[in-house]
Amino acid sequence: MRAIQVREFGGPEVLLPVEVPEPVAGPGQVVVALEAADVIYLDTLLRGGWGQDFFPRTLPYVPGHGGAGRVLSVGEGVDPGWAGRRVVAGTSTGYAERIVAGVEEVTVVPDALGSAEAAAVLHDGVTALNLARTAGIERDEWVLVTSAAGGAGSLLVQLARDAGARVVAAARGERKLALARELGAEVTVDYSSAGWEERVREATGGAGVGLAFDGAGGELGAATFGTVADGGRFLTYGTAGGGFAEIDPLSAEERRVRVTDVLAAGPPDPLLVRELLSQALTLAAEGRIRPHIGATYPLERARDAHVSLAERRTVGKSLLLV
Ligand SMILES: NC(=O)c1ccc[n+]([C@@H]2O[C@H](COP(=O)([O-])OP(=O)(O)OC[C@H]3O[C@@H](n4cnc5c(N)ncnc54)[C@H](OP(=O)(O)O)[C@@H]3O)[C@@H](O)[C@H]2O)c1
Repeated sequence: MRAIQVREFGGPEVLLPVEVPEPVAGPGQVVVALEAADVIYLDTLLRGGWGQDFFPRTLPYVPGHGGAGRVLSVGEGVDPGWAGRRVVAGTSTGYAERIVAGVEEVTVVPDALGSAEAAAVLHDGVTALNLARTAGIERDEWVLVTSAAGGAGSLLVQLARDAGARVVAAARGERKLALARELGAEVTVDYSSAGWEERVREATGGAGVGLAFDGAGGELGAATFGTVADGGRFLTYGTAGGGFAEIDPLSAEERRVRVTDVLAAGPPDPLLVRELLSQALTLAAEGRIRPHIGATYPLERARDAHVSLAERRTVGKSLLLV
């Protein structure tokens, strides 16, 4: 079958289309024929050799983190009723025509939801719901979402709006800001222009936001911290802006800002992930969150997906259509 393989860590050029042996379901596993493979920013970091502590990858490896499709075959000890069902599977591989997943890693897709939309919420939906739940978004409070037109950010904008908050969205470039407005942001700010933090504060009447979700990290993350009102909450999960946001604990204490690094403890517990994924699929099927699939690529063009993410040209979710 066709797959993408990384034989050495490096830039997008190390994503090579190859033929690999057909996967076989072992005990407790299923083989899923993918229709859409999810592409998340983390894939680009792992391809470059980052994150081996939490996400070890042994070369050569097939990148990705799963996707949506149909169960093709089941292994020993798995209910044969799974065969033919439309599912999402969250695994540690994904850029391939077919993947193997443990049956506990597989969730049925509601009939009302397309496979591409299901793949689009597989990780971003879980991440956004986890952040929203951890923060406890309050009605009428000002909420800043940065990287607001990215996969996870564009869902967070919608969850915050759905919770009755007033959303300020920050991203780079008018195309991304237009999407954030379409998804429910009341105010949009281009954080690639100087003085953007001041514009966020002005929008809130001067005090700053009660809650900020930092989807960028690095210097942008540190600047985002400065837009939070005294006594507010700052949740950081982004790394694309140059690593984790470094926040001075003394400054946080002085300003009574609660800082939560959502990734500090590694990936969330698998049981929580299952629960949040079911919720994300239901919300998407009901139309309460709408993943914006802004970029789709054939499997063999995975490298284009990574180039576009690195160059910040992608608006919304990227998927590989198999
Ligand atoms: N997806 C998940 O489930 C998940 C889980 C845990 C952590 N994260 C982290 O959350 C962030 C968003 O993840 P995602 O998968 O949804 O990706 P994404 O948002 O679709 O793409 C990355 C985003 O980072 C922003 N960005 C800021 N500085 C950047 C830079 N120097 N280079 C490239 N992009 C830059 C881009 O928006 P602008 O151009 O508007 O700045 C872009 O929207 C990432 O940092 C990721 O590591 C995601």
